Amino acid sequence: MIVNRISSLIANPQDTLKHQAAVAALECITPKLTTKSIVGVGTGSTTNFFIDELANVRHLFDAAVSSSEASAERLKNHGITVINLNAAPAVDVYVDGADEVNRQRQLIKGGGAALTREKIVASAADEFICIVDESKVVDTLGRYPLPVEVIPMARSLVARGLVQLGGTPIWREGVVTDNGNWILDVHEFMVADPLAMESSINNLAGVVCNGLFAHDAADVVLVAARGGIETF
Ligand code: 5RP
Repeated sequence: MIVNRISSLIANPQDTLKHQAAVAALECITPKLTTKSIVGVGTGSTTNFFIDELANVRHLFDAAVSSSEASAERLKNHGITVINLNAAPAVDVYVDGADEVNRQRQLIKGGGAALTREKIVASAADEFICIVDESKVVDTLGRYPLPVEVIPMARSLVARGLVQLGGTPIWREGVVTDNGNWILDVHEFMVADPLAMESSINNLAGVVCNGLFAHDAADVVLVAARGGIETF
């Protein structure tokens, strides 16, 4: 009931769906939470809805590990304890949005430039639940420009390597990641083999991380559509 009321207050239809995906994730994790649980939290507008919902059950778990300074700030503002990943004995579950999702639960992430920490926390977690609205589901990854985090001095070198791999990299000028690095967005890059492409990009010297989550795909994807929540 309260959920419906909050959803109806969100004017933008896509935001309504993002909120519904966030609520679905909360319903999914709440029965499993214990006072020792550590919840991994991603970054972005869909995750922001999740953080706001998570605040309602903050008494049911121990602490959160965040994938960005922005999410850490939002969590703390809700009175949720945020700990460093190094201090977390385990991360029970990681909840995050995505820019694109295919039916194999492989993702493109990094629209918010938080891909490296997102991949680290996702990889540390026992379970990765991805929450998206229906516009994010695709047959082939790559319509959304693929973010690649690079060491600043290697920007041009990595860009040439990405051209060799078939893409058109564009520097996201002015954006500095939480790790002090830069982002190249690779356009015109339909990814036929996400596993191979993730590895090939990682092999370019100067690449910190790329936004393909194929080796560490999501375990569960919750898609909020106009007809309800789809899970795959
Ligand atoms: C941030 C991300 C986000 O999860 C992705 O960009 C989706 O964002 P939103 O929920 O705002 O659509 O990968 O780096």
